Amino acid sequence: MKPRLVIATNNAHKLQEITAIVGDHFDILSLADIDCHDDIPETADTLEGNALLKARYVYERYGLDVFADDTGLEVAALDGRPGVHTARYAYPDRHDPEANVVRLLEELHEKNDRRAQFRTIIALIQQGEEHLFEGKVEGCIAIAPRGTGGFGYDPVFEPEGLGKTFAELGTDVKNRLSHRARAVQQLCRYLTASDAPATAE
Ligand code: IMP
Repeated sequence: MKPRLVIATNNAHKLQEITAIVGDHFDILSLADIDCHDDIPETADTLEGNALLKARYVYERYGLDVFADDTGLEVAALDGRPGVHTARYAYPDRHDPEANVVRLLEELHEKNDRRAQFRTIIALIQQGEEHLFEGKVEGCIAIAPRGTGGFGYDPVFEPEGLGKTFAELGTDVKNRLSHRARAVQQLCRYLTASDAPATAE
């Protein structure tokens, strides 16, 4: 029987992405699969802190190996903001992707330095041991939104050297080079390495 590994998400895209890579080695479970319907707190002030909070929440209650991720957009001219507040940048109490983009463009109005990076942290807890993995993509914030693909800040984020926003590049290209893909690759490299601890029941 394959060892079980929970992803602390119900996001179908994340589940599919991970299952495609490590599904041969692990039985991947979502939060719904383990009957966890809680609103897991994300109250830390760093991406690392939030990823660990989510992973620990599941590990402590269910005793299953688990990993959780957290992503932030870090803008140089804004001293790294919105960072850990990326999802709720425009309104602290709700996630409004269009309003987030409007706020970001307003804050960068007439700023020449438009450098930014997306950063994803994955926290894995395996047999009680914690591991962190990071994926980053550098780029800049466009003057105005372009493209129709993707989600969130994709219409205004241009990865370095490509001259197109994530929303213009399309899902296939984006999923190959994105921050999340890079963090997932790090995780999968670790999980499939022969010396990773076995977690079979
Ligand atoms: P999460 O930690 O994956 O939920 O990401 C936090 C927030 O970052 C999301 O709500 C989006 O606003 C933004 N975000 C994360 N990944 C991306 C991406 O690939 N493109 C655009 N926005 C993203």
